[in-house]
Amino acid sequence: MDDLSGRKVVVIGGSAGIGYASAEMALDAGAEVAIAARGEERLKAAAERLSAKAGRDVPWQVIDMRERANVAAYLAAAAPFDHLLLPGANVYRTTFADLDEELARASFDAKMWAPFFAAYDARPHLRKGGSIIFYSGLANRRPVPGYVVGAIIDGGLDAATRSLAYELAPEELRVNCISPGIIETAYVERISPEVKDELFGAYAKKVPVGRVGQAEDCAKAAMYLMTTGFVTGAVLRVDGGIESAP
Ligand SMILES: NC(=O)c1ccc[n+]([C@@H]2O[C@H](COP(=O)([O-])OP(=O)(O)OC[C@H]3O[C@@H](n4cnc5c(N)ncnc54)[C@H](OP(=O)(O)O)[C@@H]3O)[C@@H](O)[C@H]2O)c1
Repeated sequence: MDDLSGRKVVVIGGSAGIGYASAEMALDAGAEVAIAARGEERLKAAAERLSAKAGRDVPWQVIDMRERANVAAYLAAAAPFDHLLLPGANVYRTTFADLDEELARASFDAKMWAPFFAAYDARPHLRKGGSIIFYSGLANRRPVPGYVVGAIIDGGLDAATRSLAYELAPEELRVNCISPGIIETAYVERISPEVKDELFGAYAKKVPVGRVGQAEDCAKAAMYLMTTGFVTGAVLRVDGGIESAP
């Protein structure tokens, strides 16, 4: 049984998608949970839903993970905690031909450096036996149209996971990464319905399990990584088996 009673889980990017589903599952498993994200309205509504479900208060804080000093202060205020989940990031989509340098660099700041420094700043506040979870993605392993920048970032996060698992072992902290395939989350609101249908349809046809993922699939992966003390440095693919597709 996944049991997180007596544990505290902090989710930066917890107002929607994978982060929200993970916060909800951690609450169901008995954890104390705190969530943060940028948009106040959606965050507050998410915290209210979670609080109502759990029958106890789920604290929320407006945070942009790219703003390091604010993140560090937030983590210090939330301390001590056991697990830090860092799904709060987006990258900009582009082909190489249409590359915009400023947007490409901004994507690195948002999806690679922000969680990397959040992990660094969280170290003194994590209880021994705790863990950090990064979120990379499929693009690093298989080309995904429009995700050339994301692919490089995903590769960096996967590599950081292995190095940090080694570097933080003396502090009795584990570091893991979830590498999602196509998961139906709030990010689909940013793509047109036609592109969505084409992308999702093609993916479902291709992968062995015959469907795109749901946020709960990634939340279950996070539960496994949080509760399995023998796992560190792992990049857990949650993608319906895309690498087994011909
Ligand atoms: N869904 C997929 O198919 C897929 C595939 C591969 C990888 N991933 C990765 O998985 C992670 C989660 O994705 P998702 O699909 O769950 O995304 P999502 O549905 O768009 O949710 C992202 C969450 O993070 C918050 N967030 C975004 N930028 C943030 C920032 N700078 N600081 C703090 N919070 C921030 C969002 O709220 P606000 O916008 O209000 O801040 C929201 O709560 C991301 O790293 C994503 O790249 C997802």
